[in-house]
Amino acid sequence: MAEGPGVGTVRLLRGDARRLDGVVPGSVELVLTSPPYPMIPQWDEQFRALGATSYRAMLDVLADAWRACRRALVPGGLLAVVIGDALRRTEDGFRLWPNHAATLADAEAAGFRPLPYVLWKKPTNRPNAFLGSGFLPPNAYVTLDCEFVLVFRNGPLRRFPARDPRRERSRFTRPERDRWFSQVWEDVRGTRQAAPGRRTGAFPDRLAERLIRMFSVIGDTVLDPFAGTGTTVWAAARLGRSAIGVEWDAATYARLCADAGRRGLATGSASAPGAPPAVPRPGPRGPSGQAPGADGSVGRSPRRPRS
Ligand SMILES: C[S@@+](CC[C@H](N)C(=O)[O-])C[C@H]1O[C@@H](n2cnc3c(N)ncnc32)[C@H](O)[C@@H]1O
Repeated sequence: MAEGPGVGTVRLLRGDARRLDGVVPGSVELVLTSPPYPMIPQWDEQFRALGATSYRAMLDVLADAWRACRRALVPGGLLAVVIGDALRRTEDGFRLWPNHAATLADAEAAGFRPLPYVLWKKPTNRPNAFLGSGFLPPNAYVTLDCEFVLVFRNGPLRRFPARDPRRERSRFTRPERDRWFSQVWEDVRGTRQAAPGRRTGAFPDRLAERLIRMFSVIGDTVLDPFAGTGTTVWAAARLGRSAIGVEWDAATYARLCADAGRRGLATGSASAPGAPPAVPRPGPRGPSGQAPGADGSVGRSPRRPRS
Protein backbone atom coordinates (compact mmCIF):
# COMPACT_ATOMS: atom_id res chain seq x y z
CA MET A 1 0.00 0.00 0.00
CA ALA A 2 1.39 3.38 -0.91
CA GLU A 3 1.55 5.68 2.05
CA GLY A 4 2.88 9.18 1.56
CA PRO A 5 5.87 10.50 3.45
CA GLY A 6 5.03 11.76 6.89
CA VAL A 7 2.79 8.88 7.98
CA GLY A 8 3.42 8.26 11.67
CA THR A 9 5.22 11.58 12.15
CA VAL A 10 4.51 13.87 15.08
CA ARG A 11 4.91 17.65 14.87
CA LEU A 12 4.77 19.63 18.08
CA LEU A 13 4.25 23.36 17.80
CA ARG A 14 4.24 25.90 20.55
CA GLY A 15 1.41 28.15 19.50
CA ASP A 16 -2.12 29.37 19.97
CA ALA A 17 -5.14 27.25 19.06
CA ARG A 18 -6.91 30.44 18.00
CA ARG A 19 -4.42 30.94 15.15
CA LEU A 20 -2.82 27.58 14.44
CA ASP A 21 0.18 29.22 12.81
CA GLY A 22 2.33 26.58 11.18
CA VAL A 23 -0.64 24.33 10.32
CA VAL A 24 -1.30 24.37 6.57
CA PRO A 25 -4.95 25.22 5.78
CA GLY A 26 -6.89 22.25 4.45
CA SER A 27 -4.24 19.73 5.54
CA VAL A 28 -5.93 17.94 8.46
CA GLU A 29 -8.51 15.14 8.28
CA LEU A 30 -9.39 14.94 12.00
CA VAL A 31 -9.18 17.38 14.88
CA LEU A 32 -9.41 15.55 18.20
CA THR A 33 -9.09 17.75 21.25
CA SER A 34 -10.14 18.67 24.74
CA PRO A 35 -9.87 22.39 25.50
CA PRO A 36 -9.54 24.03 28.89
CA TYR A 37 -13.09 23.90 30.30
CA PRO A 38 -14.67 27.31 30.98
CA MET A 39 -15.62 27.89 34.64
CA ILE A 40 -13.45 25.06 35.95
CA PRO A 41 -11.15 26.87 38.42
CA GLN A 42 -8.12 24.89 37.25
CA TRP A 43 -8.19 26.85 33.99
CA ASP A 44 -9.08 30.33 35.31
CA GLU A 45 -5.51 31.60 35.28
CA GLN A 46 -4.93 30.45 31.74
CA PHE A 47 -8.13 32.03 30.46
CA ARG A 48 -7.15 35.24 32.27
CA ALA A 49 -3.76 35.17 30.53
CA LEU A 50 -5.63 34.77 27.23
CA GLY A 51 -7.68 37.88 28.10
CA ALA A 52 -10.89 36.09 29.16
CA THR A 53 -12.47 36.64 32.57
CA SER A 54 -16.22 36.26 31.83
CA TYR A 55 -17.94 33.02 30.82
CA ARG A 56 -18.72 34.42 27.37
CA ALA A 57 -15.12 35.56 26.89
CA MET A 58 -13.86 32.07 27.80
CA LEU A 59 -16.23 30.54 25.26
CA ASP A 60 -15.04 33.10 22.71
CA VAL A 61 -11.45 31.88 23.15
CA LEU A 62 -12.70 28.40 22.24
CA ALA A 63 -14.91 29.73 19.41
CA ASP A 64 -11.84 31.33 17.82
CA ALA A 65 -10.13 27.94 18.07
CA TRP A 66 -13.06 26.17 16.36
CA ARG A 67 -12.83 28.67 13.49
CA ALA A 68 -9.09 28.01 13.18
CA CYS A 69 -9.74 24.25 13.21
CA ARG A 70 -12.20 24.64 10.39
CA ARG A 71 -9.56 26.40 8.31
CA ALA A 72 -7.10 23.56 9.03
CA LEU A 73 -9.52 20.79 8.04
CA VAL A 74 -10.03 19.29 4.60
CA PRO A 75 -13.59 19.40 3.22
CA GLY A 76 -15.40 16.56 4.98
CA GLY A 77 -12.85 16.54 7.82
CA LEU A 78 -14.15 15.94 11.33
CA LEU A 79 -13.83 17.76 14.64
CA ALA A 80 -14.27 15.77 17.87
CA VAL A 81 -14.32 17.81 21.08
CA VAL A 82 -14.20 16.18 24.51
CA ILE A 83 -15.76 18.63 26.96
CA GLY A 84 -17.63 18.63 30.27
CA ASP A 85 -20.02 21.07 31.86
CA ALA A 86 -19.06 22.97 35.00
CA LEU A 87 -20.76 23.55 38.35
CA ARG A 88 -19.74 26.70 40.13
CA ARG A 89 -20.96 29.27 42.59
CA THR A 90 -20.60 32.92 41.58
CA GLU A 91 -22.07 36.04 43.10
CA ASP A 92 -25.40 34.98 41.53
CA GLY A 93 -25.33 31.64 43.34
CA PHE A 94 -24.69 28.04 42.38
CA ARG A 95 -25.47 26.91 38.84
CA LEU A 96 -24.53 24.79 35.84
CA TRP A 97 -22.32 26.27 33.14
CA PRO A 98 -23.35 24.34 30.03
CA ASN A 99 -20.04 24.09 28.16
CA HIS A 100 -21.20 21.30 25.88
CA ALA A 101 -24.30 23.19 24.73
CA ALA A 102 -22.36 26.40 24.19
CA THR A 103 -19.69 24.54 22.23
CA LEU A 104 -22.33 22.89 20.03
CA ALA A 105 -23.77 26.30 19.22
CA ASP A 106 -20.42 28.02 18.76
CA ALA A 107 -18.96 25.33 16.50
CA GLU A 108 -22.12 25.41 14.41
CA ALA A 109 -21.83 29.20 14.20
CA ALA A 110 -18.22 28.67 13.04
CA GLY A 111 -19.61 26.73 10.06
CA PHE A 112 -19.43 23.15 11.34
CA ARG A 113 -22.25 20.66 10.89
CA PRO A 114 -23.16 19.07 14.25
CA LEU A 115 -23.39 15.26 14.23
CA PRO A 116 -24.58 12.80 16.90
CA TYR A 117 -22.43 12.93 20.01
CA VAL A 118 -21.26 10.53 22.70
CA LEU A 119 -21.94 10.72 26.42
CA TRP A 120 -18.81 9.48 28.12
CA LYS A 121 -19.94 8.23 31.52
CA LYS A 122 -16.87 7.74 33.63
CA PRO A 123 -17.05 4.74 35.95
CA THR A 124 -16.82 6.16 39.47
CA ASN A 125 -15.75 4.80 42.82
CA ARG A 126 -18.26 7.15 44.48
CA PRO A 127 -21.61 6.31 42.84
CA ASN A 128 -23.55 7.86 45.71
CA ALA A 129 -21.79 11.22 45.75
CA PHE A 130 -24.31 14.04 45.90
CA LEU A 131 -24.38 17.80 46.17
CA GLY A 132 -26.94 19.94 47.89
CA SER A 133 -29.62 18.96 50.37
CA GLY A 134 -28.82 15.25 50.55
CA PHE A 135 -31.95 13.20 51.32
CA LEU A 136 -34.34 16.15 51.47
CA PRO A 137 -36.08 17.34 48.32
CA PRO A 138 -36.07 19.57 46.37
CA ASN A 139 -32.61 21.16 46.60
CA ALA A 140 -30.27 18.27 45.81
CA TYR A 141 -28.34 18.22 42.56
CA VAL A 142 -27.77 15.55 39.96
CA THR A 143 -24.13 14.40 39.85
CA LEU A 144 -22.21 15.46 36.75
CA ASP A 145 -20.66 12.14 35.84
CA CYS A 146 -20.67 12.47 32.05
CA GLU A 147 -18.45 14.30 29.67
CA PHE A 148 -19.42 14.85 26.07
CA VAL A 149 -17.65 13.89 22.87
CA LEU A 150 -19.11 16.39 20.42
CA VAL A 151 -18.67 15.54 16.75
CA PHE A 152 -18.82 17.95 13.82
CA ARG A 153 -18.13 17.79 10.11
CA ASN A 154 -16.56 20.46 7.96
CA GLY A 155 -18.96 20.61 5.02
CA PRO A 156 -19.91 17.65 2.86
CA LEU A 157 -19.17 13.94 3.38
CA ARG A 158 -15.60 12.92 2.73
CA ARG A 159 -15.43 10.74 -0.39
CA PHE A 160 -13.05 7.84 -1.07
CA PRO A 161 -12.32 5.81 -4.22
CA ALA A 162 -13.98 2.36 -4.23
CA ARG A 163 -12.08 -0.15 -2.07
CA ASP A 164 -9.58 2.49 -1.03
CA PRO A 165 -6.76 0.44 0.58
CA ARG A 166 -6.08 2.87 3.44
CA ARG A 167 -9.76 2.88 4.32
CA GLU A 168 -10.01 -0.91 4.08
CA ARG A 169 -7.05 -1.28 6.46
CA SER A 170 -8.74 1.07 8.90
CA ARG A 171 -11.88 -1.07 9.19
CA PHE A 172 -13.30 -1.82 12.63
CA THR A 173 -14.78 -5.15 13.70
CA ARG A 174 -18.50 -5.69 14.27
CA PRO A 175 -18.16 -5.75 18.10
CA GLU A 176 -16.08 -2.56 17.92
CA ARG A 177 -18.65 -0.88 15.74
CA ASP A 178 -21.55 -1.94 17.96
CA ARG A 179 -19.86 -0.69 21.11
CA TRP A 180 -18.19 2.44 19.79
CA PHE A 181 -21.18 3.81 17.89
CA SER A 182 -23.62 3.55 20.80
CA GLN A 183 -24.32 6.89 22.41
CA VAL A 184 -23.32 6.15 26.00
CA TRP A 185 -19.83 4.90 26.78
CA GLU A 186 -19.38 3.38 30.20
CA ASP A 187 -16.34 1.24 29.44
CA VAL A 188 -13.64 3.93 29.37
CA ARG A 189 -12.10 4.91 32.70
CA GLY A 190 -10.85 8.43 33.30
CA THR A 191 -7.11 8.81 33.43
CA ARG A 192 -4.96 9.40 36.50
CA GLN A 193 -3.58 12.94 36.48
CA ALA A 194 0.15 13.13 35.88
CA ALA A 195 1.47 14.15 39.28
CA PRO A 196 0.05 15.09 42.66
CA GLY A 197 -0.97 18.72 42.62
CA ARG A 198 -0.69 18.89 38.85
CA ARG A 199 -3.99 18.46 37.06
CA THR A 200 -3.43 18.25 33.35
CA GLY A 201 -6.96 17.48 32.17
CA ALA A 202 -5.53 14.54 30.23
CA PHE A 203 -7.96 12.11 28.71
CA PRO A 204 -7.23 8.36 28.55
CA ASP A 205 -5.31 6.68 25.73
CA ARG A 206 -8.27 4.40 25.12
CA LEU A 207 -10.58 7.32 24.44
CA ALA A 208 -8.12 8.88 21.99
CA GLU A 209 -7.47 5.60 20.20
CA ARG A 210 -11.15 4.81 19.83
CA LEU A 211 -12.02 8.25 18.46
CA ILE A 212 -9.07 8.27 16.07
CA ARG A 213 -10.08 4.86 14.71
CA MET A 214 -13.73 5.92 14.42
CA PHE A 215 -13.13 9.19 12.63
CA SER A 216 -9.96 8.89 10.54
CA VAL A 217 -8.17 6.41 8.31
CA ILE A 218 -4.56 5.23 8.32
CA GLY A 219 -2.33 7.86 6.75
CA ASP A 220 -4.57 10.79 7.73
CA THR A 221 -3.34 13.80 9.67
CA VAL A 222 -4.77 14.29 13.16
CA LEU A 223 -4.47 17.66 14.91
CA ASP A 224 -4.82 18.48 18.59
CA PRO A 225 -4.84 22.27 19.00
CA PHE A 226 -4.87 21.95 22.84
CA ALA A 227 -2.26 19.19 23.03
CA GLY A 228 -1.60 19.07 26.81
CA THR A 229 0.24 15.85 27.66
CA GLY A 230 -0.02 14.71 24.03
CA THR A 231 -2.50 11.85 24.44
CA THR A 232 -3.96 12.51 20.98
CA VAL A 233 -0.67 12.84 19.13
CA TRP A 234 0.95 9.74 20.62
CA ALA A 235 -2.20 7.69 19.92
CA ALA A 236 -2.38 8.99 16.35
CA ALA A 237 1.24 8.03 15.70
CA ARG A 238 0.66 4.54 17.17
CA LEU A 239 -2.29 4.14 14.82
CA GLY A 240 -0.41 5.10 11.65
CA ARG A 241 -1.71 8.63 11.37
CA SER A 242 0.44 11.76 11.21
CA ALA A 243 -0.08 14.05 14.15
CA ILE A 244 0.23 17.74 14.91
CA GLY A 245 0.05 18.96 18.50
CA VAL A 246 -0.23 22.65 19.34
CA GLU A 247 0.33 23.78 22.92
CA TRP A 248 0.39 27.31 24.28
CA ASP A 249 1.78 26.81 27.78
CA ALA A 250 5.59 26.91 27.82
CA ALA A 251 6.10 24.36 30.59
CA THR A 252 3.54 21.92 29.14
CA TYR A 253 5.13 22.30 25.72
CA ALA A 254 8.58 21.60 27.18
CA ARG A 255 7.24 18.41 28.78
CA LEU A 256 5.67 17.37 25.47
CA CYS A 257 9.01 17.73 23.69
CA ALA A 258 10.78 15.81 26.46
CA ASP A 259 8.18 13.08 26.20
CA ALA A 260 8.71 12.92 22.44
CA GLY A 261 12.38 12.31 23.20
CA ARG A 262 11.60 9.57 25.71
CA ARG A 263 9.35 7.90 23.15
CA GLY A 264 12.20 7.78 20.68
CA LEU A 265 10.89 10.58 18.50
CA ALA A 266 13.70 12.70 17.09
CA THR A 267 13.25 16.38 17.88
CA GLY A 268 13.92 19.12 15.39
CA SER A 269 13.02 22.75 15.11
CA ALA A 270 9.96 23.35 12.96
CA SER A 271 9.08 26.80 14.14
CA ALA A 272 5.56 28.08 14.66
CA PRO A 273 5.50 31.74 13.72
CA GLY A 274 3.80 33.92 16.29
CA ALA A 275 4.28 31.51 19.18
CA PRO A 276 3.29 33.14 22.46
CA PRO A 277 5.80 34.26 25.05
CA ALA A 278 6.35 32.08 28.08
CA VAL A 279 3.89 32.94 30.85
CA PRO A 280 4.54 32.04 34.45
CA ARG A 281 2.11 29.38 35.66
CA PRO A 282 0.80 29.64 39.22
CA GLY A 283 0.05 26.66 41.38
CA PRO A 284 1.81 24.13 43.50
CA ARG A 285 4.74 23.76 41.18
CA GLY A 286 5.51 27.47 41.06
CA PRO A 287 6.51 29.28 37.85
CA SER A 288 6.79 27.37 34.61
CA GLY A 289 9.98 25.81 33.35
CA GLN A 290 11.95 26.96 30.36
CA ALA A 291 10.50 26.69 26.90
CA PRO A 292 12.80 24.75 24.60
CA GLY A 293 14.58 26.88 22.05
CA ALA A 294 12.81 28.03 18.95
CA ASP A 295 9.31 26.71 19.58
CA GLY A 296 8.78 23.58 17.64
CA SER A 297 9.78 20.02 17.17
CA VAL A 298 9.42 17.34 14.59
CA GLY A 299 9.46 13.68 15.38
CA ARG A 300 9.12 10.39 13.64
CA SER A 301 7.22 7.51 15.10
CA PRO A 302 9.33 4.37 15.22
CA ARG A 303 6.24 2.17 15.14
CA ARG A 304 4.41 0.78 12.19
CA PRO A 305 0.72 1.47 11.75
CA ARG A 306 -1.57 -1.02 13.42
CA SER A 307 -3.87 -2.49 10.80
C1 LIG B 1 -7.63 20.00 28.87
S1 LIG B 1 -5.94 20.21 28.50
C2 LIG B 1 -5.69 19.06 27.18
C3 LIG B 1 -5.37 17.72 27.70
C4 LIG B 1 -5.04 16.73 26.62
N1 LIG B 1 -6.25 16.25 25.93
C5 LIG B 1 -4.29 15.54 27.23
O1 LIG B 1 -4.76 14.40 27.13
O2 LIG B 1 -3.26 15.79 27.86
C6 LIG B 1 -5.93 21.74 27.61
C7 LIG B 1 -4.55 22.17 27.16
O3 LIG B 1 -4.71 23.30 26.30
C8 LIG B 1 -3.64 24.21 26.54
N2 LIG B 1 -4.09 25.53 26.05
C9 LIG B 1 -4.86 26.44 26.67
N3 LIG B 1 -5.10 27.50 25.88
C10 LIG B 1 -4.47 27.25 24.72
C11 LIG B 1 -4.36 27.96 23.48
N4 LIG B 1 -4.95 29.15 23.29
N5 LIG B 1 -3.68 27.38 22.48
C12 LIG B 1 -3.09 26.15 22.62
N6 LIG B 1 -3.14 25.46 23.79
C13 LIG B 1 -3.82 25.99 24.82
C14 LIG B 1 -3.43 24.11 28.02
O4 LIG B 1 -2.14 24.57 28.39
C15 LIG B 1 -3.63 22.62 28.28
O5 LIG B 1 -2.40 21.93 28.17
